[in-house]
Amino acid sequence: MNLPSLFSPLQVGPCRLNHRVVMAPLTRMRAERPSLAPRPLNAEYYAQRATPGGLIIAEASPVMAGGFGNPGVPGIYSEAQIKGWRNVVDAVHAKGGFIFLQLWHVGRVSHSSFQPGGLLPVAPSAVPIAAELKTMTADGKPASYETPRALEIAEVAGIVEAFRRAASNAMKAGFDGVEIHGANGYLIEQFLQSRSNLRTDQYGGSIENRARFLMEITQAVIGVWGANRVGVRLSPYGIANDSGEADPMPLYTHVVQALNPLGLAYLHFIEPRSSGAGRAEVNHQNVPSAMVLFRPIWNGVLITAGGFTGETANAAIAEGHADAIAFGRIFISNPDLPRRLREGFPLTPYDRATFYGGEEKGYTDYPLYGELEPA
Ligand SMILES: Cc1cc2nc3c(=O)[nH]c(=O)nc-3n(C[C@H](O)[C@H](O)[C@H](O)COP(=O)(O)O)c2cc1C
Repeated sequence: MNLPSLFSPLQVGPCRLNHRVVMAPLTRMRAERPSLAPRPLNAEYYAQRATPGGLIIAEASPVMAGGFGNPGVPGIYSEAQIKGWRNVVDAVHAKGGFIFLQLWHVGRVSHSSFQPGGLLPVAPSAVPIAAELKTMTADGKPASYETPRALEIAEVAGIVEAFRRAASNAMKAGFDGVEIHGANGYLIEQFLQSRSNLRTDQYGGSIENRARFLMEITQAVIGVWGANRVGVRLSPYGIANDSGEADPMPLYTHVVQALNPLGLAYLHFIEPRSSGAGRAEVNHQNVPSAMVLFRPIWNGVLITAGGFTGETANAAIAEGHADAIAFGRIFISNPDLPRRLREGFPLTPYDRATFYGGEEKGYTDYPLYGELEPA
């Protein structure tokens, strides 16, 4: 019997993937300003990474103006943004690829300079991110995180509705589906975890209550797309953006079991060893494996990400720990990553200095295998 590998086909909802090398959602901060709409450069970048039957999960995109914490991030709440995304989607489809959009609200991982009216960022509770962690203002000055404003209970439905509208906008833009960003210390995870959620209403306290916000968003998005075109991303045992639940197993066991009956397209993890990969070259040692822990209780397609090579990805799939592997950093610097992994070609190293913001450099100028390296 042939074991499945990175290059076996896989059914993800209605999408028949030809291979399992998924492009992870990657914030690159290169949208047009001030519209925060994707521009032709962004379409070129995604098209470079599209393959027939390959799945791309496009970068986290705020569902509303208050959902930003970084400059130059593309949104999915205005007509101009829908139009910009439509060009990206068309470029990926023209190469036979599939593309989902990741829906985002950063919550407290923001600064008032990004907020409409210069108001404080919102969060489940008025709990600031640890003072040692720093951020930047909208005009690029170093800043401390502020104490966020706790959402009024009546406001929560408005944010759920913004996710629903954004999901509908993503459909208008022609995406194949959407992924809900429930990872990395952003708003949904702030609700899930007890350190950032001190609420005493139906959105706080018990695990079931803390998971309510995620479940309401997921149901709202399913109402637009149908469950088999909706994915959810989680980072149990992650510590990004001052997140981290003291005892993650009961919380995430509940969440995975609550998502199980919905029939989602997939569940997507960030492996704890790579928590914070977006900020620094960390590789946490002696940490649990999300895929190993949660695979036995998840009934659907499982994607995971975090420091995989072609070899470790193939092993994870062959051993049944995951169905597909999402690649982040090495997909940035290897636009033809699926081919390189299939053929065993060497990889081009990535340049962290060009991850966030800028133009072509470090974005669309990485070579295909066999082409000249950029000067
Ligand atoms: C530059 C950069 C931007 C990222 N942006 C996002 C994002 O928008 N949404 C998300 O869920 N994860 C994001 N991540 C995490 C990646 O999706 C991925 O989980 C992580 O990089 C680990 O995979 P890797 O070891 O293959 O890079 C980002 C990581 C990097 C390096």
